Amino acid sequence: MKPLIEIENLRKEFFLGSILSRDKIVAVDNISFKINPAEIFTLAGESGCGKTTVARMILGFEEPTAGRIIYSKESSDNKEPVWFTQGIQAIFQNPFETFNPLRKVEHYLFETVYNYKLAESQEKAREIINSKLESVGLSYEEVAGKYPSEFSGGQLQRISIARALLTDPGLLIADEPVSMVDASIRMSIVNLFKKLKEELQMSILYITHDLATAYYMSGQIAIMFRGHIMEMGPVEKVLMEPAHPYTKLLRESIPEADPAKKWTDRISISDLESDEYLRKGCKFAGRCPEAQDKCKEHTPEAAYIDDVFVKCHLYSG
Ligand SMILES: Nc1ncnc2c1ncn2[C@@H]1O[C@H](COP(=O)(O)OP(=O)(O)OP(=O)(O)O)[C@@H](O)[C@H]1O
Ligand SMILES: [Mg+2]
Repeated sequence: MKPLIEIENLRKEFFLGSILSRDKIVAVDNISFKINPAEIFTLAGESGCGKTTVARMILGFEEPTAGRIIYSKESSDNKEPVWFTQGIQAIFQNPFETFNPLRKVEHYLFETVYNYKLAESQEKAREIINSKLESVGLSYEEVAGKYPSEFSGGQLQRISIARALLTDPGLLIADEPVSMVDASIRMSIVNLFKKLKEELQMSILYITHDLATAYYMSGQIAIMFRGHIMEMGPVEKVLMEPAHPYTKLLRESIPEADPAKKWTDRISISDLESDEYLRKGCKFAGRCPEAQDKCKEHTPEAAYIDDVFVKCHLYSG
């Protein structure tokens, strides 16, 4: 199958500290993966491993230091880079941040319709908006004239999904979309993603700390640690028979995303994080129960166990 999007050797470097003491971290270190049409692909890993940076590069908000992002529409043969295409839309962790509290939410929906020139008249715009709201279980009636504070977090997240759907994207990037909503309605959003995949043949890049929802809905999963993909493959294999010591550890406990944290707070880095980013060899060696001497010296080569990609000295060479 021809992939919908291909990420090739994508890399992002950030500089830490002052100009005089410039340490460089590689927040995304030559990662490659593909997402097929109508596939949910999960990017998982603890805080600060580079997930949002990958998403921001795909969305064109951040320039890659190196590497390529190729987005190919099924209908066309030409592959082109995708800065700001309407084929890729995103929703984020905190729906209350997406919407200005002083603006009616319908303004956001109409604005998107007009920005992308999706309708010629107010009436047609309302029709399109209503149909997208219906596909997330709402209607224009329920939204018209209301401010963000009049909705629950779960409803607002649905509205932001409806807004993303307006352009009929092939790929929806969902960065921690359920970590702020109540556990009780979390599953309804997760089921909505499955429905969008099945009914609209949409692909989703699902970014999460939550392996349970990842397991429930995704086809492929990539486990990231300090800029590297440590293990990647079919979700069933990676989570049920993990090969990498990090995946095994993560399965036991993965720290929750801090809901109060904005992505911009990520720019400050913890000591543990920078120590791990700056170490040579395998970034996980300092915490790995199976670390050998060579792990602290050399970055492991990628290896394949059947269709599972693993980056660990236990399997390389
Ligand atoms: N604009 C920036 N300038 C400098 N460093 C940055 C910038 N953006 C991210 N970083 C650093 O890059 C690393 C990866 O950050 P990123 O936000 O991609 O992680 P994440 O996996 O999304 O984490 P979380 O789960 O907490 O959202 C972190 O160490 C972060 O501090
Ligand atoms: Mg993030």
